[in-house]
Parts: sequence; C-alpha cells; structure tokens
Amino acid sequence: MATALIVLAAGKGTRMNSDRPKVLHPLAGVPLFVHALAAGRALDPEAVVLVAGHGAEAVARAAEAHAPDAQIVVQAEQLGTAHAVAQAAPLLAGFSGDAIVLYGDTPFITPETLEAMLDARRRHAVVVLGFEAADPGRYGRLVTAGEGLERIVEFKDATDEERAISLCNSGVVCADSALLFELVAAVGNDNASGEYYLTDIVALARARGLSAGVVRCDEAETLGINTRPELAAAEAAFQARARAALQDDGVTLSAPETVILAQDTAIGREAEVHGPVVFGPGVTVESGAVIRPFSHLEGCHVSEGAIVGPFARLRPGAELAEGAHVGNFVEIKNAIVGPGAKINHLSYIGDASVGEGTNIGAGTITCNYDGVFKHRTEIGARAFVGSNTLFVAPVRVGDEAMTASGTVVTRDVAPGALAVGRARQEDKPGFARRFFAKLRAAKAQKG
Ligand code: UD1
Ligand code: CA
Repeated sequence: MATALIVLAAGKGTRMNSDRPKVLHPLAGVPLFVHALAAGRALDPEAVVLVAGHGAEAVARAAEAHAPDAQIVVQAEQLGTAHAVAQAAPLLAGFSGDAIVLYGDTPFITPETLEAMLDARRRHAVVVLGFEAADPGRYGRLVTAGEGLERIVEFKDATDEERAISLCNSGVVCADSALLFELVAAVGNDNASGEYYLTDIVALARARGLSAGVVRCDEAETLGINTRPELAAAEAAFQARARAALQDDGVTLSAPETVILAQDTAIGREAEVHGPVVFGPGVTVESGAVIRPFSHLEGCHVSEGAIVGPFARLRPGAELAEGAHVGNFVEIKNAIVGPGAKINHLSYIGDASVGEGTNIGAGTITCNYDGVFKHRTEIGARAFVGSNTLFVAPVRVGDEAMTASGTVVTRDVAPGALAVGRARQEDKPGFARRFFAKLRAAKAQKG
C-alpha cells in the first residue's frame, strides 16, 4: 500500500523565545523537522507534504536543502492541527493510500513504530500512536474501550476522570488518505481552545461506525521539543543513542562524549574516531578509516583505510579514496583525493582532483576563486607537488609531474615535467656578516 507523509510544522514555537521558527532549530546538525521526515522516509512514501506557517519561506528553503522531495503548503493562520492537515488535501488529491501525520517538532519517532501503525491499519480505519506517560500533564488523553479507541480528549476539555487516564496522544495518526481529509473537513472548533483538533477525527470515525485503534510506543519516542532546554536535552539524548549505536556496530570511539554526530552520520565497522571530532550532515566513513582528534567533517566521504587529521577539515564534496591521508591544518572542499594520495600539512585543496599516490607538499594551495567564478585544479597520479606550491586554477598537472617548492603554477604542466616558477636565488658572499656587524656597532654606540 502506498503511503504519504504529512508533517505539521506551522507552529511558532512561542516557548523557544526565538526569531527562528521552532522546526528550523538544529538537532544533530539538521533542522528539527528533518528528523520526523527521516523516520517517515523509511516507509518509502510516495508523497511528502510539509505544512509550514510561521517562517514559511525559511522553512521552504531548508526543505529544499534537506528534503527536496517534500512539497510545501502554507497554513497562513494556525487554527489547529485538523486545519493544518486539511491544508495538505489539495496536494494529495490524486493520491490513494495511507496518510501518516507527523509533527515537525517530534524528532524521535522510529521507523519501526510507523511500520507498526501501518500494520494496525489492517484492523482499524484510524490508528493513533499513544504512550503511557510518566507525567500525563497537558497531553490529549486516549479514551479506549477494550481493544478499540473511542475518542481523544484534549486536556483543557477533559473531566477529572478523563485527566486520570495515563494513556496519552503522541499526535501521530494514520488513516486512509481520502478518509482522513473527509474527517478533518468535518472537525469543528467548539472546544476550550477554539481550535480545529485533529484528535476529533477519532470520535467522528467512530460515529460513522469505523474502528479506531492505538499503537503504543515508548514515551521517549514521542518527546516533543517546546523549549531550548528541551532541545538541548534532545540533542544529548540523540548523541548518546547515536554513539552507542555506532559502538554496537563495531566502530571504535575514543572519548565518545566528545564525538559529535549528525542525524545521518554513517561509519563502517572497525573505523576509529578519536574525539573530539565534529560530524556535520552528510558524512560517510568506511571500514578501517581513522579520524584523528580535532577534525571537522561535513558532506564528505572517507574510504577504507584513509587517515584524517589531527586538525583536518573536510568540507562538502571532499571524497577521500582508499588509504588517502589528510593531515593537520588541511582543508579539502569539493575535491577528490585519489587512492594513497597524501596531503599531510597546512594545505587548501578546493575544486580539485588529486590522482593516485600523489604527494602534496606542505603549504600547497589551490587558488580556486577569481572573485567571481570557481575554477578546477586537476593533478594527475604519482605527481610530486613541492611545498608552498600555488595552483592558479584552472590548471592541470600531468601524471608523474613535479612542481618545485614555492612555484606559482599558472599554466598546465605536462606529464613527467618539472614546473619551476619562482624568483631565481641570488647569493651575496659575506653580506650577512657585514650587515650584522654594522647593526651591532650602531647599537653599541647608542649604549
Ligand atoms: C497536540 C494534540 C494532543 C497531543 C499533543 C502531543 C491536538 C488537538 N492535540 O497538542 O492531543 O497530546 O499534540 O504533543 O492535536 N500545528 C500546525 N498548525 C496548527 C497547529 C499546530 O502546524 O494550526 C503543528 C505544531 O507546529 C506542532 C504540532 O502541530 O508541531 C502540534 O501542535 P501543538 O499546538 O503543539 O499541539 P498540542 O497542543 O501540543
Ligand atoms: Ca506540543
């Protein structure tokens, strides 16, 4: 059965006390809403709709970067969760299958839980994700009867008896898409908040003789972010879980509490990460690679047996082949570093390719930017780049070529050639001794 995701992300998040919409605050290196989407994406949805409202333009921009498959719909006024879901109806008019409603501020729902909800759909027209709350607080309460769910009552509207129920509403719902939109269209706003409650669809479905059911999950999964301390706590929880998962997968983490992971960090078995290391989004590290302390990686790939750091920076598009070495104070951006190539000290390699087995000397820089355009530097295999070489891109260096230290390379270098482009050395015999003798004599006279 096809599935569609509807992610609610229109709320302001007043309690964040922020100019930024709540769902754009980062968690594990990506905007908050990306987490719920990632869990939903495991179901291979046919359509993804993000309902934006506060800061909709900024949310749309972030979605372009992090969820290009999502369609955005703007809920101009936030009249409630049912009203928010209704905004997605036109975009899903041609869709048939199950729709799952997720919240952009609830990052820890697991794919397994969503699978369980889809499974429960075989028995119920509407499936709600519930949890036993340690402190039910202001959550909506699930009113059950035997196996079934009768209705959901919001805290504000609940009687004392209903408030005593500890089975709470996570907010995640699943129903046939067409039915969901029919039901939300029928929801009114005659309640304590004057809002259109998505939760009302359960009673509406029951009134039609349809069955509703509950799938239960751990409370930790339904954790919603409302405040900055909650965001910080969620970050800590994410990091602890992600580190433990990597260790279970056979990754060595030394000083694990100083290894900062992103939502999608992927590291292979027997790789070693020696903290402190920061992973931004989009990093994959293969088996047996070693990441040494004080390195920062983002949008890059590190192949088997490669060594990174200490103090290395891999920026988006850095692609390290097997056994490549990138050492201290080296920055790599949008560049392929070939198998066994070495860039060990104090270099910037951007918009470039470095061939197999090539050695890049200390202080080498690709001058890739002319102030307007970016240009590429292509260096062949088994080349030897002398220390302090500048490559004024666009420029190409052939296989087995060499550059002399201090060379400013402005033209292509043929395979096997040596390029020397620096001022010729001139020697003045005895000059240094005479010069210092004069200075010291002057100083002695002054006293
Ligand atoms: C909601 C549920 C409640 C549940 C709780 C779990 C309803 C009526 N109540 O309450 O039963 O226990 O979540 O956290 O659904 N949003 C929009 N547009 C709107 C309103 C909300 O996009 O017009 C989004 C918010 O940005 C947020 C989510 O929907 O991501 C939930 O809204 P919120 O106002 O936090 O609902 P609660 O009152 O917490
Ligand atoms: Ca909430």
